[in-house]
Amino acid sequence: MSADAGSRGGKVVEYKPLLDEAIRLSAHKPNSVLLVDRGLAKMAMTEGRDLLWSNLRDQHLNDVVPCEWVDSTHPSYTLYTSGTTGKPKGVQRDTGGYTVALASSIPNIFCGKPGETFFCTSDIGWVVGHSYIIYGPLIGGMATIMYEGLPTRPDGGIWWSLVEKYKVTVMFSAPTAIRVLKKQDPALLTQYDLSSLKALFLAGEPLDEPTAKWISEGLGKPIIDNYWQTETGWPILTVCNGIEKTPSKFGSPGKAVYGYDVKLLDDQTGEELTQPNQKGVVAIEGPLPPGCLQTVWGDDDRFVKTYWTTVPGKMVYSTFDWGIKDEDGYFFILGRTDDVINVAGHRLGTREIEESISGHAAVAEVAVVGVADNLKGQVAMAFAVLKDGSLLSDASALLKLEGEIMKVVDNSLGAVARPARVRFVAVLPKTRSGKLLRRAIQAVCEGRDPGDLTTMDDPTALLQISDLVKA
Ligand code: PRX
Repeated sequence: MSADAGSRGGKVVEYKPLLDEAIRLSAHKPNSVLLVDRGLAKMAMTEGRDLLWSNLRDQHLNDVVPCEWVDSTHPSYTLYTSGTTGKPKGVQRDTGGYTVALASSIPNIFCGKPGETFFCTSDIGWVVGHSYIIYGPLIGGMATIMYEGLPTRPDGGIWWSLVEKYKVTVMFSAPTAIRVLKKQDPALLTQYDLSSLKALFLAGEPLDEPTAKWISEGLGKPIIDNYWQTETGWPILTVCNGIEKTPSKFGSPGKAVYGYDVKLLDDQTGEELTQPNQKGVVAIEGPLPPGCLQTVWGDDDRFVKTYWTTVPGKMVYSTFDWGIKDEDGYFFILGRTDDVINVAGHRLGTREIEESISGHAAVAEVAVVGVADNLKGQVAMAFAVLKDGSLLSDASALLKLEGEIMKVVDNSLGAVARPARVRFVAVLPKTRSGKLLRRAIQAVCEGRDPGDLTTMDDPTALLQISDLVKA
């Protein structure tokens, strides 16, 4: 099912050519394609395969479609997400458990009631969109708003005008979007009647204190951070004000949500860290609560190996995040333990971006790291070694290559994964055993000390990167 096009920042983004290309590349081709013509772009229709939704709607307007009963464990969807390898994992979710988890989260976490309106600004294809644009609010008896577009168009007040118009009671967004709004006139926050709004929930990336304070003071509403993952489908850490009023702490998403037995474990010994403020891997003791992934689609072994065997001596679910817990039981998330980066609330694997860039014929080798960015949290930065080293002195050829490589990433992974810069170097920093020193590259890009470099094969490699970054 698709449409002729979408609209982003006033620009028409054609979907049909992308869809046709995807079907051309796929091994398993659909028999039929159902298309909504929004009147945004012309569509080339394939006879016998492509069907227009408007025609079928007229045909089936008064049909009664019976409920299709499935087992509780029947998969409801798979959502692909990044990890440490170049191959994304298909997070497979069940039907019954997911429904129960979402139904319970609406009153207990989001304090939403039947008859009210939920407004989640996420992308619909992201886990937050699945859980809290579509299923959660509707299962909870709430109306839901689907908003297509930017928070700044026609102006920075558009979201708040929707809150007034539809009497939104619960709103859900991401810190990046708030940082975008911070650049707008703060008067836009108070131009509309926001009396219906109970709270603004934010998730997907660390919520920095200045952003939290700015929006909380601007709106005069509680701001509630919540931490979770594509794999879990609903919050792991937050404050459940629908159960009992719990104060929020700046910088902390909160405490473990009911159903989650969250622990901090020593990454070397697997031992539980019981003293306050000790840094460890955020892990969840099995069984996971309803709603969390059943397995990795088509690969049970990968599910077990990836998530359940990384902490020594214990079979626990690893979130791959570092965290600490203070004396009051509030968790603080300190970043990933793996090579996953977070760009504007979007989770990306540096390995996937590297594989995509390696698809360019001129590239011999590439390293991608996440670098701190004021607006997006992190951006991807790429350092490539060219097959033809003589091009390194040809500035115009390098500029052209940078553009081409960005296009390759746009086409294979989408614009969100496009590196902020692609820089070209003669050699990449590696250990003597050939392991890429991504953390050292990242430190240099962020102006930090790269740490112990005695294992590095060629010490000039990091200097080149440092020179490029400074220039
Ligand atoms: O690193 C954590 C970060 O985002 C990762 C999960 O991303 P994704 O699978 O795209 O799911 C997003 C669903 C909200 C986590 O492993 N993350 C998510 N929420 C927070 C966060 N980091 C800090 N604070 C949060 N509230």
